[in-house]
Parts: sequence; C-alpha cells; structure tokens
Amino acid sequence: MIPETGDKKRIFYGRRFGHKLRTRKRQLVDSLLPQVAIDPAALSKTPCDPATMFNRQADQVWLEIGFGGGEHIAAQARQNPDVNLIGCEPFFNGIASLLDEIDRDGIGNIRIFADDARTLLDALDDASIDRCFILFPDPWPKTRHNRRRFISNENLNSLARVMKDGAELRLASDHMEYVRWMLFHTLGHGAFDWQARGPQDWRIRPADAPQTRYEEKALVRGAHSAYLRFQRKSRSITLENCGKIP
Ligand SMILES: C[S@@+](CC[C@H](N)C(=O)[O-])C[C@H]1O[C@@H](n2cnc3c(N)ncnc32)[C@H](O)[C@@H]1O
Repeated sequence: MIPETGDKKRIFYGRRFGHKLRTRKRQLVDSLLPQVAIDPAALSKTPCDPATMFNRQADQVWLEIGFGGGEHIAAQARQNPDVNLIGCEPFFNGIASLLDEIDRDGIGNIRIFADDARTLLDALDDASIDRCFILFPDPWPKTRHNRRRFISNENLNSLARVMKDGAELRLASDHMEYVRWMLFHTLGHGAFDWQARGPQDWRIRPADAPQTRYEEKALVRGAHSAYLRFQRKSRSITLENCGKIP
C-alpha cells in the first residue's frame, strides 16, 4: 500500500506486482519504459498541460485510467493516430504487457503514468482532456469496501475539472450493482450528461472499443456488461444549469 500522494493521504488498495516478468518484458521495462513514462517530476509543475508530455503534436489528448493489460489503450492508439493517449496503471505486470504492444507495433502516441491516477488528475490543467475511459474498475463488492471504488464524488470532481466541455467520459462494468452506483454518482454529480437514449446504447459495447481482458473474463462467466457514456456539460452558465455545474 502506498499511503501518501502529494499532500493528500491516500491509499491505493490494488496490486502493484504479480508474477515474475519474463526476460523480454523485463528488458522492455528497463529500456522502453523510461522513454514513454510520464516523469513524476513533470507533475510538480502544476497545472500541467498534458500536451507537453508528448514529443508529437495531436488534435486531442485522451486518458485511460486502470488500463490493466493495455489491450484497449493500445487499440485506441492504433485506430487514432491523431490523438495522444495517457494510460494510468499502477500494476507493473499490466504496464509490461502494454510495453510489449507498444514495442511490437511501434506505437508512438501513448505515455504511461505508472501510478495512482489520482496523482495525475491532481496535477493536470483544467479542461485539458478530450476523452476519458475507466473500463471495468475494481467493483469492491463488499459494502464496507464500497468507498474504495474509483467512481466517487471526489474523483468525479477531479474528472469534471480536467475534462473539456463536451468531452466523453466512458465507463464500463460487468458488476450491475457498481453500474447502478456509477449512474447514481455520475448523474448526481451534476457535471455529466448520460448519452443513452435506449437500452442498446448501454448494453452494446461502443463500435470503436475492443474487448478488454476483464470484459472477456465476464463473458466466460456468462455475465453481461454495461457501457455508460457521459458527456462533460458545458461550463458556461445558463438559466437551466445555474448553480448545478461544478
Ligand atoms: C479490474 S481491472 C480492469 C483492467 C482493464 N481496464 C480491463 O478492463 O481489463 C482494474 C484496474 O484498475 C487499476 N487501478 C485501480 N485503482 C487505480 C488507480 N487509483 N489509478 C489507476 N489505476 C487503478 C488496477 O490496477 C487494475 O489494473
């Protein structure tokens, strides 16, 4: 457990290390990770413009929080060469898997923040992210652990701050109680509109999104998944949203 980030006392409850890495992945951690990792020192200069984390120009910056084995962020990076992507993941074996994909396919538009996404969110500039994915976050099903869930009012405040007006927040889960929790917290927050118009909009995976490892595991168990797409509301004050948008 890493007890502290910046001046906020926070605990990361997930795993940082799994099984021993094979030689190739160990070599990639030594050689490639330093080239694509976001230097925590760059975050001390707050607020931090994510565009400066890349040595290439792009139309947009997208963020994936908890990329696991990196299948989704790698596929998005290949499909969207005009976009720069930041992936956050503290689990070292997952980071090594993504490095493997980056190296194999010569992907040049991903940067990795190998730590708790909340530290990065704290440092990012206001309205600097064009899209954010949080796919199959740990459901923490026991009631006494619910407060560990990533979707929380505190983290939604951070997301609302760093996301641009109109930016998409894409969530997914196969844990239906967490899906209800996601809807309750995200709609109750006030800065996000749910984009669904009918059941097909949340029951079917968006066409541009590949299956993630956790989604695959859910399918094997026979569990259904839900895909929730929200839009960050405009910050401009209107009579309708006056006093509601953080
Ligand atoms: C259940 S896994 C899902 C992984 C992947 N998104 C997928 O669908 O296969 C949740 C992931 O979120 C990561 N995670 C948990 N808390 C996080 C945090 N505060 N910041 C970044 N990643 C986090 C975990 O390490 C884990 O890899």
